This record gives sequence, C-alpha cells and structure tokens, in this order.
Amino acid sequence: MDHFIYRDGILHAEDVPLADIASQVGTPFYCYSTATLTRHYQLFEAALDGLDHLICFAMKANSNLAVLRTLAQLGAGMDVVSGGEYRRARAAGVPGERIVFAGVGKTRAEMQLALEGGIRQFNVESEPELAALSEVATALGAEAPVAIRVNPDIDAGTHDKIATGRKEDKFGIPIARARHVYAAAARLPGIRVCGIDVHIGSQLTELAPFEAAYSRIADLTRELRADGHMIERLDLGGGLGIPYTASNEVPPLPAEYGALIKRTVGDLGCTVEIEPGRLIAGNAGLLVSSVIYRKIGAGRDFLILDSAMNDLGRPALYGAWHDIIPLTEPAPGADMEPVDVVGPVCESGDTFARQRPLPPLDAGDMVAFRSAGAYGAVMASEYNSRPLVPEVMVRGDQFAVIRPRPTFDEMLGRDTLPPWL
Ligand code: LLP
Repeated sequence: MDHFIYRDGILHAEDVPLADIASQVGTPFYCYSTATLTRHYQLFEAALDGLDHLICFAMKANSNLAVLRTLAQLGAGMDVVSGGEYRRARAAGVPGERIVFAGVGKTRAEMQLALEGGIRQFNVESEPELAALSEVATALGAEAPVAIRVNPDIDAGTHDKIATGRKEDKFGIPIARARHVYAAAARLPGIRVCGIDVHIGSQLTELAPFEAAYSRIADLTRELRADGHMIERLDLGGGLGIPYTASNEVPPLPAEYGALIKRTVGDLGCTVEIEPGRLIAGNAGLLVSSVIYRKIGAGRDFLILDSAMNDLGRPALYGAWHDIIPLTEPAPGADMEPVDVVGPVCESGDTFARQRPLPPLDAGDMVAFRSAGAYGAVMASEYNSRPLVPEVMVRGDQFAVIRPRPTFDEMLGRDTLPPWL
C-alpha cells in the first residue's frame, strides 16, 4: 500500500495534487511520500518485534538526505557502501553505531573515515580486505568490528544482474572457506569479529532462497561458536521484493519474512540486522513526467516523454517494468491503446515500455511512473546534458523540493578548460 491515489480523478501524493507540484517545479521530478516511507519502515519493525534487531536502510536505493533523515528519526540504521554514503548518513543524523559498511572494494581511506567517525561494523568480503582493515585499524590504534560476508551459493531466482549469492558472483567469501577465514581474522590485530553477514540478491519474490541462506547461516553460527568465535550479530542483508505491477508478482510480505527470520535464526540469541532498500523506498516514490509529443509511427504510436533513461534507468538496464499512470484518472471504461513510451535520449534503449496499453494521451498530459522511489534518482545521470532530475518530498498537505534541478550554468560551471585551450 502507498499514499499515491486518485481523489476526484486527480492523482495525489498524500494530500497534495501532483499537478500542483508540477506547476511549481516543472517536470520531470521524483516525488516521495513520507507516510509511505514511514509505513514501510514500520512494517519491518513490526515483523521483527520480539527479536533484538536493527533495520539498516540500504541507502544505495535512495540516498537523499531528507529520505535518510525521515528514516533515521524513526530509528533506522544505514547500510552504506562508500565513503560518500557514509558521509550522507552522518549528515542525515545517523550515529556511527547504527551504520554498517558493506561493499567488495572498500578503500583504506574509506575504512579510516568510518573508523574515525564511528561505525557499527564492517561487512568484510575478502581476505585482502580483512588484512587491509587490520592494518588501517592498527595504525589508528582502533579495533574494527567485523562481520564476514559469506557467499552461500544460492540462486535467489532474480534478475541475473542483481543476484549476489551464487558462487560465480563477486560477493562474499565462499561459505566452505568461512571457518578458515574466521580463524585468520581472530589472529589479526585491530579486528574484532562480531558476526556473520549474508545478502543473496535483490527483488526476491519467493521466501525459499532466503530460507536456504538463513538456515546455512544458522548452521555456520553454531560451527563458528564451537570454534570459539563470538558470533553476536547476524546481518541478513536485504532483497525482499516489491510488486512492480498489480498483476504478475506478489512477493511475500515483511511479516512473512520476519516469521521466516525468527524460524531460522531466532533461537541463536543474536542481534539481527537487515538491510532492506527497495521495499522501504520503492513504492514510496513516483517519477512524474510530461508528454512532449505523440508520434504516429509505422504500425505503432510513440509517446515521447520529457523523462528518459538517464532519469530512470531501470527499464533500459534490466528490462524492468514500471506501471505508468496518467495524472488525470481515465474515465471508467476509457479505451486503452497500446503505445511505446520513450524518452528523448538518442538511443533506442531509451524505451520505458513497448506496446503498453494506456488511455489516450497527448502532448502536455502528465504521467507518473510508479515504484520509482528506489534505484531511481540515485542512478540518474546527466547523459545527453540533461539536468539531474529534481526530487520532492510530501508530508500530508505540505511538499518541499529536497533536491533542486541544477541550472545549466551550474552544469557547465563544473567543467574546466585546460590551459592550452
Ligand atoms: N544489502 C546489500 C549488501 C546489497 O547489495 C543490496 C542491494 C541491499 C542490501 C538492498 O537490497 P534491496 O532490499 O534494495 O533489494 N539497481 C538495481 C538493484 C541493485 C541492488 C544492489 N544491492 C535495481 O534497480 O533493481
């Protein structure tokens, strides 16, 4: 459930008509709903009730400061994957002890930043990374809390590009090597092993792969404890999928996911950390766009929008489906006609949808892409020298621009000419 609904035929974000935002901000823009973000966060809180836990929002999904602060004020921690994300989390008011640092390629500078600024744990993904972290921590006279990410060799059954738990994926340490690596970690100065980390992929629409992974983690916890390691925390990653369209995917609910966590690892006495991104932010955001032209092609019509693959990359990158709905509700029984929905960027990959049934739409009409709050704005670029798409947040009947559209002067001003030109 989200808070983007038609009222009297006009699409609203909570109590604000999206057309009102469009008239002040211009299109395209992203719009986030505070009530939806809050609701999704609280679903996970309720799902893990009774377990000692921390929900670390995977801020790669949406790292706008306003989104982060909204979640931080609810008590969320953050899962960061770069020094930049760490800085954003801190700027949003998240204390270091609620930040976990993930990623396969942490640099020494990033390790130092987090050790000096405060960190809950590093999720370490390789033996060379462990050695580097040991050196950095020792040089600082610090001790780095570490969970080692294991790769359980499980196919999450999701899109190939976002599956992370198979042995051929670059993530984690093969689970068969885990005991060896934990033994090595225990001998390293500056390292304090505190837990195990696993994340098998994103947009999972079945519970079975989670169940397989978490059961292996439960077994590993017992083995590592028997070897004498202190395993106090289990970071179970993110990945719970969302419905991108009402008709095809019906992913499990956070409550079912929570019950699975309790069933598989609940009796180990560990603090459980989870790293959801998409489920919290995805359906809390829309991308609003205007039709520039409707073009009659050979055998098909094209709806050419003012947003493009640089603003919302998921359809071009993963062939992803986003529901597209008009800002003005179609009359009941309105004729639906198939159209190709495209952007202005100069490549055919800039196609949002082919032969999508939509009510009659023409130049000047506005549409919204649903489920665009996660992996939308964060993946936007200035390709074709298009300004980065602005972001707006709604709360009740209020809205605020939380990232303005850059001016062309700002964009040009970032380039510098070498002395010979
Ligand atoms: N934890 C780790 C270690 C991750 O790598 C990810 C996502 C998450 C948590 C959050 O997963 P989520 O709950 O959001 O599924 N750009 C792609 C998705 C990339 C996901 C990368 N890792 C897309 O638009 O589908």
